[in-house]
Amino acid sequence: MDKRPVGIFDSGIGGLTVLHEIGLLLPRENLVYLGDTARVPYGTKSTDTIIRYSVENTRFLMSKDVKAVVVACNTASAAAGDVLRKSFDVPILGVIEAGVEEAVGRSKSGKIGVIGTAGTIQSGKYEALLRGSGVTKIISAPCPLFVPLAEEGWTDNKVAEEVAKIYLEPFLNGAVDTLILGCTHYPLLEKIIGKVCGGGVALINSANAIARKLSDRLSASALQNDSGAGERKFYFTDSIERARAVGSRFLGENMDSRVQLADLSEFSRH
Ligand code: DGL
Repeated sequence: MDKRPVGIFDSGIGGLTVLHEIGLLLPRENLVYLGDTARVPYGTKSTDTIIRYSVENTRFLMSKDVKAVVVACNTASAAAGDVLRKSFDVPILGVIEAGVEEAVGRSKSGKIGVIGTAGTIQSGKYEALLRGSGVTKIISAPCPLFVPLAEEGWTDNKVAEEVAKIYLEPFLNGAVDTLILGCTHYPLLEKIIGKVCGGGVALINSANAIARKLSDRLSASALQNDSGAGERKFYFTDSIERARAVGSRFLGENMDSRVQLADLSEFSRH
């Protein structure tokens, strides 16, 4: 049994969808969340910049004595997952690997689609992992407008539906039978995406997948916490008022006084 918290970071508030799923599956685990709201979005930044930010975020979480780190951000997971695994001596789990495993297990036709930020899609990381798992028919497309729509709470209206119809066109009419929602924000649009894609396409929410993977990993390494109710602490690098307001929607519960401002300046040495 290990009472140390699990650290979770994202470029902003979207990763709270991941924390939510982890909390449901592992209610006894103490969780520390870092949302880098001062530097969001990562999806449009260069690989070097995303790696630098991700290392700083992980150093911050390590200062909270975490026993494992979940990279909840798909963009950071794609660009920095391997670097983080080499640089830190706690288990580092990325949403990308978890989403790919789940998609490969679910797809019957072997035709898999991926949607994500421009950074995630351009990194080619999803494609590389899917190909490594024997998948040859892969369609991927960036859907950048889904992020502001989710933050604005426009997840189930005509605008969201029109945008989804345009972005998802390449995935329709049997082109894929499984679609990976490769961005923290997309689970909030799951209803509209499902409506546009139709029942023949299974949607893979990486947040569920990573929660199960974390559970397996903690048990396998005897790191799980078996007693008490897990505490949640939330840190953000910019306005905690906005994080609290928008974040509560992503989390599905009020974050109240558990929200604090994080200063990453002491973690930015090179
Ligand atoms: N968290 C990012 C992701 O999952 C989306 C927002 C951003 O671009 O930073 O890719």
